[in-house]
Amino acid sequence: MKKLLYHFDTDLVPSVFDSVVAYDGGADHVTQYAGIHEDNCSKLVEGAIYTRAPKHKKNTAIFIGGSDLAAGQSLLEAVQRNFFQNFRVSVMLDSSGCNTTAAASVALISRTTSLQDKIAVVLAGTGPVGQRVAMLLAQGGAKVRLTSRKQERSIAACSEMAKRFGVSLEPIEASDTNSITTALEGAQVVFGAGKAGIQLLEASHWQQHATIEVLADVNTYGSPGFEGILMTDHDMERFGKRIFGGLGIGALKLKLHRACVEKLFASNDHVLDADMIYEIALDMAHSE
Ligand SMILES: NC(=O)c1ccc[n+]([C@@H]2O[C@H](COP(=O)([O-])OP(=O)(O)OC[C@H]3O[C@@H](n4cnc5c(N)ncnc54)[C@H](OP(=O)(O)O)[C@@H]3O)[C@@H](O)[C@H]2O)c1
Repeated sequence: MKKLLYHFDTDLVPSVFDSVVAYDGGADHVTQYAGIHEDNCSKLVEGAIYTRAPKHKKNTAIFIGGSDLAAGQSLLEAVQRNFFQNFRVSVMLDSSGCNTTAAASVALISRTTSLQDKIAVVLAGTGPVGQRVAMLLAQGGAKVRLTSRKQERSIAACSEMAKRFGVSLEPIEASDTNSITTALEGAQVVFGAGKAGIQLLEASHWQQHATIEVLADVNTYGSPGFEGILMTDHDMERFGKRIFGGLGIGALKLKLHRACVEKLFASNDHVLDADMIYEIALDMAHSE
């Protein structure tokens, strides 16, 4: 029986990246729908849950993507509201790669250093990836500061993660060299989650910093988000600190994304959101 993946994208142009990884993760056929949201998904979900006998339902799955995490989260909830009894299929949320990128990143960081009671700073943490990174770091026991150029945006992102995952994050406004220096005071873990192509840290912010132990930056576009690191850094030591760059994290992120797609087809009742994806990432990172 063919493994069919229905990709619901909240954007108007569905992601090629997610389509390629879906095939590489084992889907036999991927159908992409654009502009899907909580109010127009029901017919699509019905088509997925009614069409195959119980023992074959695991061969149909749903992937939710797009650049708007709030819309993706609402869509995930709406999809599940259409499930009843065993009329369901497995579903995965990965808006802008948020869950797979965050899970791979935090799993690698936690392999390098214990997060318990550490101060972690997620710079430009208001995007999909940053929100999930901050949440996972907090779940791992870190005291997390989430920065934005605008205080109201950092407050909104922290509130959203508190509401969904019960974590407490500290919102911080950091928009220039001085405010970034203040945000980094006493920090042991520093994470860069800025928009692609943006430099967030100058070398002087981190190279001689007294307390920073680990830096990770996910940017893979243009130059790295932290001056003085390489995108290919993978647990590289620089200035006495462990460094992960965007491509150094990206290898595990891709492997994880493929493994998650494979897992979707293992049963018809998986819901792959941050927690479950992080569990898979931890296994993968620790057996690397
Ligand atoms: N390595 C990998 O495998 C991988 C996988 C997926 C994504 N990524 C990368 O992960 C990063 C985060 O992705 P995302 O989708 O969460 O990001 P995003 O939503 O595009 O941007 C994140 C935040 O960057 C801040 N920002 C925007 N312009 C800025 C500027 N000029 N200066 C400083 N900050 C600015 C914004 O925060 P405020 O407006 O609140 O300040 C924004 O919320 C991107 O670089 C993406 O390419 C990497």
